[in-house]
Amino acid sequence: MTDINTAKANIKTTGFLDIAINVNLDLFAEIEKIKNKKNAIVLAHYYQEPDIQDVADFIGDSLGLAQQAEKTSADIIVFAGVHFMAETAKILNPHKKVLLPDLKAGCSLSDSAPPALFKLFRDKYPNHLVISYVNCSAGMKALSDIICTSSNAEKIIDSLPKEQEIIFAPDKNLGAWLNKRTGRNMVLWNGACMVHEIFSVEKITKLKIRHPAAKVIAHPECEEAVLRLADYVGSTTGLLKYSVDSTAKEFIVVTETGILHQMQKSSPAKTFIPAPPNNSCACNDCPHMKLNTLEKLYLCMEYETPEITMNEELIILAKKPIERMLAISKQYGL
Ligand code: 13P
Ligand code: SF4
Repeated sequence: MTDINTAKANIKTTGFLDIAINVNLDLFAEIEKIKNKKNAIVLAHYYQEPDIQDVADFIGDSLGLAQQAEKTSADIIVFAGVHFMAETAKILNPHKKVLLPDLKAGCSLSDSAPPALFKLFRDKYPNHLVISYVNCSAGMKALSDIICTSSNAEKIIDSLPKEQEIIFAPDKNLGAWLNKRTGRNMVLWNGACMVHEIFSVEKITKLKIRHPAAKVIAHPECEEAVLRLADYVGSTTGLLKYSVDSTAKEFIVVTETGILHQMQKSSPAKTFIPAPPNNSCACNDCPHMKLNTLEKLYLCMEYETPEITMNEELIILAKKPIERMLAISKQYGL
């Protein structure tokens, strides 16, 4: 069996603490104990597995999670989400310990925008302002003027003068949707999310025929043809709120399946149908988000590793556009 020191040394390869846990341990109770003992807070994204959502202190979309990270008085922030989210929490709290249960929990969308390539692209548009979706690396954030999330992107774009030219990165689908909503012609970086690009128009249409009263609700990272089928398009928080407020009884949910847990909890009498991908895989589950497990969460809290560490200079550069986003969001009451 691997001992703790070997497991710590192996994190560079494994991404997490690969040690056995006593199967009789009540992980929910243990996590609560550690939270109190260490003044730690668990922030979880809606795409995390249900057990992690149930043990979290705050569950939210990317904007909500960044806002919680900004205002927390906890000494340790445990981020149950993907790397760019934990990195954002670290940028906002450079002196706090930020833990991620599995360092390999990345993001295909973030990976689709390597900073060095993006810099070459940006340099071709010297008069353009760069708005980057928060799903990007700290290196990309450092090359951006303002960060946005799917909750506040429209407001952030509308807050700029109409004549201001803009590059939007890295998500071309969200960018195209925002161009339509705002009447802009932003230059789009050609990035996408592997989960949101997989939904099938044909299968959603067939589902809709079988469930004619169901509302189709979709995340704006989906392709335009899918978004055209939607009754409502919004961030994960927006989708959850819509499902609670709507009088409809059935919903076809076109985003990662993790969100269904909170939808079902908030509206037990309603039916939520996950939109199917265009093949028979479980590709509507984000393989990055789902790398985190309750066991890895417990271990990272107990041993305070893996930890997010960042170069100070990068923190300073990446912080500015995030703070700009948070300030504009506050201004609009978001
Ligand atoms: P939001 O939760 O901000 O809507 O983002 C979805 C997402 O893809 C996170 O990875
Ligand atoms: Fe990234 Fe897509 Fe997974 Fe969100 S769902 S973390 S955008 S790969």
